[in-house]
Amino acid sequence: MISTDQELVVLALEARKKAYSPYSEFAVGAALLVQNGHVYTGCNIESASYSATICAERAALFKAVSEGERGFCAMAVVGGRQTLSEPFATAVIPCGVCLQALSEFVGGDFRFLLVKSRDTFETRTMDELFPWRFSSQFL
Ligand code: THU
Repeated sequence: MISTDQELVVLALEARKKAYSPYSEFAVGAALLVQNGHVYTGCNIESASYSATICAERAALFKAVSEGERGFCAMAVVGGRQTLSEPFATAVIPCGVCLQALSEFVGGDFRFLLVKSRDTFETRTMDELFPWRFSSQFL
């Protein structure tokens, strides 16, 4: 059980160390907090067939959903060149595919913690990062 945003950030930093990114040499970690206190982490996992790559954010989301979890609160995300470690010059923003995948399960107030270091991160909501999103209401 974690109790602070910073703990979620630290888990994302730890998850990033597991990234498999030999092609881009860009390593990403994510940590997804569930309302029940559980945390699911993910890293990017690349493939020699590049399009088979999965981002850290979706890796975390799919782990959680496939364990039956729903009701997500926040996700910490950290990325940077593989050889670098914190503090990072810039915080990574989740890609559009990951935002779309997450938006299936979260509302506009879902929080992203965009990490430069364990002490430096900015909070943005789903509404801020992805205000116009496709949803089942269009089907
Ligand atoms: N990547 C992520 O894991 N998350 C993002 O939001 C953006 C990009 C990964 C995919 C690929 O392995 C590497 O970063 C470079 O694009």
